[in-house]
Amino acid sequence: MQYKAVRGFKDILPDQVGTWTRFEQEAKRIFGLFGYREIRIPILESMELFARGIGEDTDIVSKEMYTFRDRRGNHLAMRPEATASILRAFIEHKLYKGSPVHKLYTMGPMFRYERPQKGRRRQFHQIDVEIIGDPGPRSDSELIYMIMQLFSSLGLDDLELHINSLGCPTDRGPFRSKLKDYLKDYTSQLCPDCQERMETNPLRVFDCKVDRCIEIMKDAPTMLDFLCEDCAQHFKQLEDYLTQLGMDYVVNSHLMRGLDYYTRTTFEVQTPELGAQNAIAGGGRYDNLMADFDGPATPAIGFAIGQERVIELLEGREEAGEQGPDLFVAALGTDAEDRAFVWLQEMRKKGIWCEMDYRSSGLKAQMRHADRLHAKRVLIVGDDELAKGSGILRDMSTKEQREVPLDTVVDEIARLSHR
Ligand code: HAM
Repeated sequence: MQYKAVRGFKDILPDQVGTWTRFEQEAKRIFGLFGYREIRIPILESMELFARGIGEDTDIVSKEMYTFRDRRGNHLAMRPEATASILRAFIEHKLYKGSPVHKLYTMGPMFRYERPQKGRRRQFHQIDVEIIGDPGPRSDSELIYMIMQLFSSLGLDDLELHINSLGCPTDRGPFRSKLKDYLKDYTSQLCPDCQERMETNPLRVFDCKVDRCIEIMKDAPTMLDFLCEDCAQHFKQLEDYLTQLGMDYVVNSHLMRGLDYYTRTTFEVQTPELGAQNAIAGGGRYDNLMADFDGPATPAIGFAIGQERVIELLEGREEAGEQGPDLFVAALGTDAEDRAFVWLQEMRKKGIWCEMDYRSSGLKAQMRHADRLHAKRVLIVGDDELAKGSGILRDMSTKEQREVPLDTVVDEIARLSHR
């Protein structure tokens, strides 16, 4: 029986990993410039943490979480996102006792039981960033500026930034009633899920993916018309700062995001290139979540990038030209192989990436192997060369060959490789 990966779970193969690593390194470099520090959190949490943080009526919690009971009956969930876990860690370790503002990021797999399709997986990866302790709006615009700078430095410029404000809980009450009134006229046309949402959490009707519900929501009232003075001022300042930073954006009053914890600023970065799953990153402010988790009331804002979607944009744009070893040693005969085996380890100690074929193949097969690995040079050593005390060094790009003394070959290769 041959096994296959579980539906919606994908392998990231060695040829693809380079793009992932470059993306992650660039993110770390840029986050460093803005003073962010990495935090690593577990993949499993109590189910309750996400239910309370993200909201019982959201699709993520009600339909998409991987949950199970462990041997002691504890109800656990594989994390569908990172924000709730970061806040849990923040409160559990009393990080708030240190500096007043914490800038954190994490990277890793998230799990949502969604219908797999292009740009949507059941295991996917996020780069998640949070600022905890600053009420904004300067930090809101800086965070948005940082994410766009990261995309730009990756060569992704053809992107759209959508922003919205979801106000505060006080604004939400009148908006919810107005929305409910609006939806009443369409009750029978809404899908069964939305008919239920209309009663429990009408804002979540905005997340529905059913065509008729999407159409009905096009003319629905929007949160922006219900903002209190403070929230309206916050949103205006955010717009002013984004303009000062020279950023293009679209105010999208239908951007409700699929999680219940948001307050005030929300945003999404969208691409025209990926079809239906066009959001490559999304986030917003969640000023009440810390208190909801029984921590000290602390404002916060963050975002998460969907790594698979960004990788899809990056693949194909990257320059060809694979990295290969500094040296491949083509040894012929047991004596040469034994000598080469020791050189190899000495060279690696000196920081040289080198390879050889341990299967005693012929010269032609070894040269093919070196070619496939994209080796920069090949050192050819057989019995004759050992007897003479000099091997043949071939530069694989110029095809030039010359003799090199074997007693100093390790130093010679080190000199060439570190040039
Ligand atoms: P989210 O919008 O649920 O936000 O996810 C962020 C990004 O993750 C999406 O824009 C998308 O690119 C990617 N994503 C989500 N689901 C999938 C999937 N099934 N397959 C592939 N990619 C996916 C959050 O998770 C919030 N925690 C972001 C945040 C941080 N808000 C504040 N701080």
